[in-house]
Amino acid sequence: MTARYDTHGDVAVITLDNPPVNGLGHAVRSAIAAGVDRAGEDAGVGAIVLIGNDKVFSGGADIREFNTPKAVAEPTLNTLIRIVEASDKPVVAAIGGVCMGGGLELALGCHYRVALPSAQIALPEVKLGLLPGAGGTQRLPRAIGVERALNMIVSGSTVAADRFANTALVDRLIEGDLLQGAVALAREVSRDNRSPRRLRDVKIDYPLAEPFFQLARAAVAARAPQYPAPRKCVDAVAASVGKSFDDGMRVERELFLQLMQTPESRALRHAFFAERAAAKYPGLDADTPARRIERIAVIGAGTMGTGIAMNFLSAGIPVALLEMNQAALDKGAATIHRTYQAAAAKGKIGAEQVRSTLALLHPTLSYDDVASADLVIEAVFEDMDIKTQVFRKLDATMKGGAILASNTSTLDLDRIAAATARPQDVIGMHFFSPANVMKLLEIVRGARTGMDVLQTVMRLARIIGKTAVVSGVCDGFIGNRMLEQYVRQAMFLVEEGAMPMQIDRALESFGMAMGPFRMFDLAGNDVGWAVRKRRYVEKPHVRYSRVADRLCELGRFGQKTSLGWYRYEPGRRDALPDPAVDALIEAHRAQVGITPRTIGDEEIVGRCILALVNEGAHLLEEGIAVRASDIDLVYLAGYGFPRYRGGPMFYADTLGLYNVVRAMHRFAANEHADPAFWQPAPLLATLAAEGRSFNG
Ligand SMILES: NC(=O)c1ccc[n+]([C@@H]2O[C@H](COP(=O)([O-])OP(=O)(O)OC[C@H]3O[C@@H](n4cnc5c(N)ncnc54)[C@H](O)[C@@H]3O)[C@@H](O)[C@H]2O)c1
Repeated sequence: MTARYDTHGDVAVITLDNPPVNGLGHAVRSAIAAGVDRAGEDAGVGAIVLIGNDKVFSGGADIREFNTPKAVAEPTLNTLIRIVEASDKPVVAAIGGVCMGGGLELALGCHYRVALPSAQIALPEVKLGLLPGAGGTQRLPRAIGVERALNMIVSGSTVAADRFANTALVDRLIEGDLLQGAVALAREVSRDNRSPRRLRDVKIDYPLAEPFFQLARAAVAARAPQYPAPRKCVDAVAASVGKSFDDGMRVERELFLQLMQTPESRALRHAFFAERAAAKYPGLDADTPARRIERIAVIGAGTMGTGIAMNFLSAGIPVALLEMNQAALDKGAATIHRTYQAAAAKGKIGAEQVRSTLALLHPTLSYDDVASADLVIEAVFEDMDIKTQVFRKLDATMKGGAILASNTSTLDLDRIAAATARPQDVIGMHFFSPANVMKLLEIVRGARTGMDVLQTVMRLARIIGKTAVVSGVCDGFIGNRMLEQYVRQAMFLVEEGAMPMQIDRALESFGMAMGPFRMFDLAGNDVGWAVRKRRYVEKPHVRYSRVADRLCELGRFGQKTSLGWYRYEPGRRDALPDPAVDALIEAHRAQVGITPRTIGDEEIVGRCILALVNEGAHLLEEGIAVRASDIDLVYLAGYGFPRYRGGPMFYADTLGLYNVVRAMHRFAANEHADPAFWQPAPLLATLAAEGRSFNG
């Protein structure tokens, strides 16, 4: 059963019942249409109420039906809305909770609407690179006026129903029982013999239409030049003025179909589904037990430890923060205090909230104070000996059943786990810097990590608002292992003739939030240097350009030293060109015997991005990442990859893997290339040969 039919005296009530969000799947659409027909035929019924529950009227399309025949099976949403709108008996939508997308379009097809003041109204389709395709762009302007409707449709933002008092969107705000209020209005309408009032019959009078829409087009083009959907939203809303309703609907349909085909919308929809897919992990389901997490401990109050602690404090979870000595502890605690006070100064949170949040923080030097935590996260120096010592201590002190997590970026989690007598309780929680801001959390599943531990940490990630992706154990996990190949390519490009600024610009035009060299200067060039020094010993056969070493030998570690690949003025973060770096690069090229050539932006982008893709294919093959979309999500949430390109693996799919492999062969033919680098991962080679893609 997906919609119930009852009668309340002379009013028929159709109740949507499709948890969790009353998605308008095929069965629901059919049941609503059947309810309207039944009410139409029942002489004892004078009016109809369409209602969900207090939490949700309808969240719109049923995403479980996306890309299935059911999504477009009759009655489609457009058909259903036509049936509802055409009903001779007045239909009242009773809106409580979430009323979004197709849910709002359905409500707009009803003749009257009542709402709880807190109901959340939105047409968020633009966020998927689309526009509302079931009359939303035509009926919403007729209900609340062109300007307000355009703002909502172009931004996709959510507005509380009480803001629509005195508009045709909300005929009556209901303070008490929603159903009673809706039935009362339905009864009034039918007793007064009022004929159905249809938004399609409203004629919009808007004399300033042309200049307004021109301005709106310019504004959205400036704000989001890479995204076609906002512009098409403007065009669709413009069609609600000066055209008949049916002509406007035709324009809306045509624009909707155009957007469905755009690479941007495909990418945004991919990202949307990638987020949902990542929350599932093979072997975990709703029945997998989870442990209770009420108290957290963090070991190490440095850059990461303080950021990690703030995630939990902000979620109202108490945190004990442990350090080696008082000075380090005071410094860490001061950082946390300062961050919340700065947020308060900007008006983001109130003074009382700062006080209550900070009251949850318990700085300490004693393991006695962390022993009772349900989860402890270690964020001490990146050194195996220090980490194993800390884990031995945790093993000896933490209560039974506590989860022991490490924030290591590069060390072998299984070795860390082996330092304890409870490896099933050990897991990696790889946060990104700044940990209180960055969305990404790589959850590292060790060889012996318990499934209940994994389940617990995945749930906890949601509570603290992180985008979590599970990774297996390997050096660098998903994100940094791929990044290493991207960085190697960027350095080879410098050696061969491109300058850091050109490389940054090329990748930023591609859409990366920050080019690699600006990123190195931000993160600290010494970090990569330390990794390379290790690689020179561990993997002497792997080729690395030494150009960055020359920079580091001069102490040019980046923003923190005011000099890196660029130079920085005191107190500013603008990356300024520095002739000394050009000279250093030229000297290095001469030393390694390379005559520089002009390198086009296309080659720069191709080499750097395909370096990511090939390593991503290795990760999939090795089972470190369980699906290509997880890799995409890591790059979207943690590495500034442009969302409108869907992530590196999805982007490779849009190029076509056959073309990807051909490009790699071309790069390998370059006289300075490391041919081993461009050897396609076996999975990539197979998929390309079979004409398949990463994302199925
Ligand atoms: N900085 C980053 O961008 C980043 C990102 C992801 C992960 N990580 C990882 O997070 C961990 C911490 O990195 P960080 O950048 O915060 O380092 P940091 O040097 O800023 O902080 C480490 C802190 O740990 C404390 N500490 C050291 N040994 C300790 C011990 N035995 N007991 C208690 N406290 C101890 C130190 O006093 C210091 O305050 C490392 O494993 C690192 O690889 C760092």
